[in-house]
Amino acid sequence: MNDIEAIKARHSVRKYKPDRIEAEKVTILKEKIDELNKEGDLNLQFVEDAGKTYNKFFNVVSGLGSAPSVIACVGKDDAGLDQRVGYYGQQLVLLAQKIGLNTCWTGTFNKKNIDADVPDGQRLVICIAIGYGADSGKPHKSKTAAQVSTSGEDMPEWFVKGVEMALLAPTAINQQKFMINLGPNDAVEFVDKGGVLSQVDIGIVKYNFEVGSGRKQTPGA
Ligand SMILES: Cc1cc2nc3c(=O)[nH]c(=O)nc-3n(C[C@H](O)[C@H](O)[C@H](O)COP(=O)(O)O)c2cc1C
Repeated sequence: MNDIEAIKARHSVRKYKPDRIEAEKVTILKEKIDELNKEGDLNLQFVEDAGKTYNKFFNVVSGLGSAPSVIACVGKDDAGLDQRVGYYGQQLVLLAQKIGLNTCWTGTFNKKNIDADVPDGQRLVICIAIGYGADSGKPHKSKTAAQVSTSGEDMPEWFVKGVEMALLAPTAINQQKFMINLGPNDAVEFVDKGGVLSQVDIGIVKYNFEVGSGRKQTPGA
């Protein structure tokens, strides 16, 4: 499965089987986490036992309380942290999909109960629930390309494909509050239209756009 196939197959999964993730897959995830932490100046952590991370009422009702493991998205607390978390975290989400696991980004969780290391000067932004889904989720309702991007018949193919993958990106409460504009010299601009955790959304959207367009993007602030 390549990244495009993983983007198409991925949906948020909130109900998990009790099965633990096998050691070999944990190793694959941890190796990728090490690589992304170096590249993105992050401190992403695989927390094997989700414990009481999802004991909040909302999580219990949604089923997320059943997630066996979690990825804690921690990093140096600067202006670009949320976007970096989105951009690099989405790479883990897609890797998980490729090795048969399911995920759900979760802004709502119990910060006190998660077994993550958050040193001074760093911040725990969000978590990613991970495990074997009891189902594989379902496609989200989506805005159209015209609603989220510069559109028109003369848009280059790479831009159209980038926007297509961006529309499949998970966003908090499925808000899709972003715009992708094509400027002079093929410059691509991502506009954050606000909303809960919208900078994490922008980071995720940038990575999906990169996969679709084949053009490298950089998380910013
Ligand atoms: C930044 C962010 C925060 C999210 N927080 C939660 C959450 O707290 N609880 C939850 O059930 N889903 C959460 N989600 C999942 C979204 O609801 C989901 O991505 C969106 O509805 C689109 O559905 P899809 O992921 O299946 O494509 C979050 C997603 C993102 C990107």
